[in-house]
Amino acid sequence: MDSQRNLVLTGFMGAGKSTIGALVAQRLGRPFIDMDAEIEVRLGKSIPDIFAEDGEAAFRDHERALCLELADRDGLVIATGGGALVDLSSRGAMAQNGTIVCLTCGIDELVRRIERGPHYRPLLDPVDPHSTIEALLKKRTEAYAALPWHVDTTGRLPNEIVADVLDLLFAKQLEVRGSKSTYPIHIGAGLLQHLGDAVCASGLPAGSKTVVVSNDVVFP
Ligand code: S3P
Repeated sequence: MDSQRNLVLTGFMGAGKSTIGALVAQRLGRPFIDMDAEIEVRLGKSIPDIFAEDGEAAFRDHERALCLELADRDGLVIATGGGALVDLSSRGAMAQNGTIVCLTCGIDELVRRIERGPHYRPLLDPVDPHSTIEALLKKRTEAYAALPWHVDTTGRLPNEIVADVLDLLFAKQLEVRGSKSTYPIHIGAGLLQHLGDAVCASGLPAGSKTVVVSNDVVFP
């Protein structure tokens, strides 16, 4: 990973993408693009109005077009909408030139944050947000799991989350090429807490058994 690649924050509604994205951008002195806000400015109407007047499919088309456009630029901090990288082509484009970090959060806290928040979310039932969040999360489990890095935000302070995200952005990945195989080495601060993600990045087939060899100084 290299610090001039885009940093792309994604994850479910209420996971903290906009808040953390703005803070990280400020720390790095980079431009911050909140995709939902950008779409609202470009179309001159709010996300709920786009859903109501044009439909979800039209919103997804705008979202995909913006993902492809932003993936072509450098050095941005981008907060996507919660469903943007469920789309395979958007996910692929962002991954080409960006470090993608998926922010996660326990469902009870997600519900609290969404209920407290200022935005109306057209995909959620305002009377029973918990059930719609649960159902949507279930539908997106695979897409979110396929994202390279995950940072849990549950019960954590913004500064702690920002620090984790920066550690991932600044981590280095080396490709070790051999005659029979190629594998990545990740070098960076705090990466042990992302061991699962790093093992997945090595490209092992799903369900593979993995042995972690360490000592109790490195991995107590
Ligand atoms: C959506 C998430 C929203 C917004 C739209 C659809 C989703 O963004 O893009 O309502 O499909 O998860 P936030 O995640 O910023 O709330």
